[in-house]
Amino acid sequence: MEGIIRENTDEAQRQAEFIVKAHDALLVLERKAGRKLKACVVTFGCQMNARDSEKLRGILDRTGFILTEEELDADLIIYNTCTVRDNADQHVYGRLGRLTGLKKKKPELIVGLCGCMMQEETVVRKIRKSYPVVDLIFGTHNLFTFPELLARKLSGERRVTELWEGTDQIVENLPVKRKFRFKSGVNIMFGCDNFCSYCIVPYVRGRERSRLSRDILDEIRSLSDDGVKEIMLLGQNVNSYGRGLGNEMTFSQLLREVCAVPGIERVRFMTSHPKDLSDELIAAIAEEPKVCRHIHLPVQSGSTDVLRKMNRRYTRSDYLRLVEKIREADPDISITTDIIVGFPGETEEDFEKTVSLVKEVGFDSAFTFIYSKRTGTPAAKMENQIPEEIVHKRFERLLETVKETGEAACARFEGRTMNVLAEELNKEPGFVSGRISHNIMVHFPGDRDDIGKIIPVKLTDCRGFYYFGERVQ
Ligand code: SAH
Ligand code: SF4
Ligand code: F3S
Repeated sequence: MEGIIRENTDEAQRQAEFIVKAHDALLVLERKAGRKLKACVVTFGCQMNARDSEKLRGILDRTGFILTEEELDADLIIYNTCTVRDNADQHVYGRLGRLTGLKKKKPELIVGLCGCMMQEETVVRKIRKSYPVVDLIFGTHNLFTFPELLARKLSGERRVTELWEGTDQIVENLPVKRKFRFKSGVNIMFGCDNFCSYCIVPYVRGRERSRLSRDILDEIRSLSDDGVKEIMLLGQNVNSYGRGLGNEMTFSQLLREVCAVPGIERVRFMTSHPKDLSDELIAAIAEEPKVCRHIHLPVQSGSTDVLRKMNRRYTRSDYLRLVEKIREADPDISITTDIIVGFPGETEEDFEKTVSLVKEVGFDSAFTFIYSKRTGTPAAKMENQIPEEIVHKRFERLLETVKETGEAACARFEGRTMNVLAEELNKEPGFVSGRISHNIMVHFPGDRDDIGKIIPVKLTDCRGFYYFGERVQ
């Protein structure tokens, strides 16, 4: 039943009962060990995974584990994996190799794997065969069953594996442990239906499902009550929010409703697909002062031919027109992007079009990726895969260009006083670091008491992509 959401409050209740069971089993293990046990969740990949990890931490915290960031200290380690590019997979295998050594010294160690890599059969087969260190495996579709699987593992089951091929469920109200007190991601949708020809996300995250606006707004109200000031609305393609909900609300309407929640001072969103970015949304961004002056708009390539093969469903000129419209609405807005180099069949001429588009737009920054062949995607079967040396040369050249446009764009703030949300202590004693609405990092004099506050800072010293600034109050 694609697109239809079964709100499943019974399931949330069922899982809450498993948290109690897991807690009881943990007490037994702690008595045996003669101390409290610690858990560590390591996140790979995107903001969606980061948010999922907050849910895992919430469940572990409620179960009674002490949460730690130190993997070596932990009695239970969970890797929340990403598989968007092959190097993400290789990284996890490398770290599992090291955990195998650790488990020899610490036989009681529990190792769990979840996230996007687990939705690939070949990966799971390899792990079962070659990595006996792994005790617990689950996927993206059944993350909410973690309490149940944890209870089984803590009660002594040897290897717990549960993987689903898909789901039509969205289970609300599981516990969450946030990384930051003052800001939070909020899922507005799950999955992706776009099937860009290079991308594995639709296969590992399943069909697009939007949450009910009522549930999203309830969550944001309670986050606000809990001290959250900045919200990041999360989805693979936020612009298509509401599809499948009988057009209950469009993304721009949702954005305006989120801005109206008392206590919320900044709203960000990620990611926008250029093909679905509406005039209505551009108007909402321009009119709502709480919406941050930053839009992440992945272009992937500057060549219309490549974009067609990528199944992105816009042309180079569509993209440039969109940028123009956004800048007509707000000339000062930051625009960032993602670019893939070395897509199958990319000619020197195609690549030059990407370089010229980067210059023409003058992106504030860009994540640049070398094309990675993902098994099961249409692009993996395309002819003309580009040799590595050529791709590397192009990649270096693109990095240079992105650096130039990024530095030029960043310099436009020099001397201006901007509000900075202080996020963390800087490594440099006596300094804190935070972001302006345009998402640029600023370091300025401050201390622990400033964290979570919005502070006016004069941006005096541009260092390429970030600033050192002076407080004006
Ligand atoms: N939903 C977002 C992107 C999510 S993945 C969007 O469509 O904009 C984040 C980025 O990873 C993509 O924008 C793309 O640039 C990159 N990416 C995805 N698959 C890739 C692959 N097979 N090889 C290299 N980069 C890839
Ligand atoms: Fe992947 Fe395209 Fe979906 Fe983004 S929109 S997650 S790139 S398929
Ligand atoms: Fe990676 Fe999964 Fe995100 S593949 S980029 S963690 S949706």
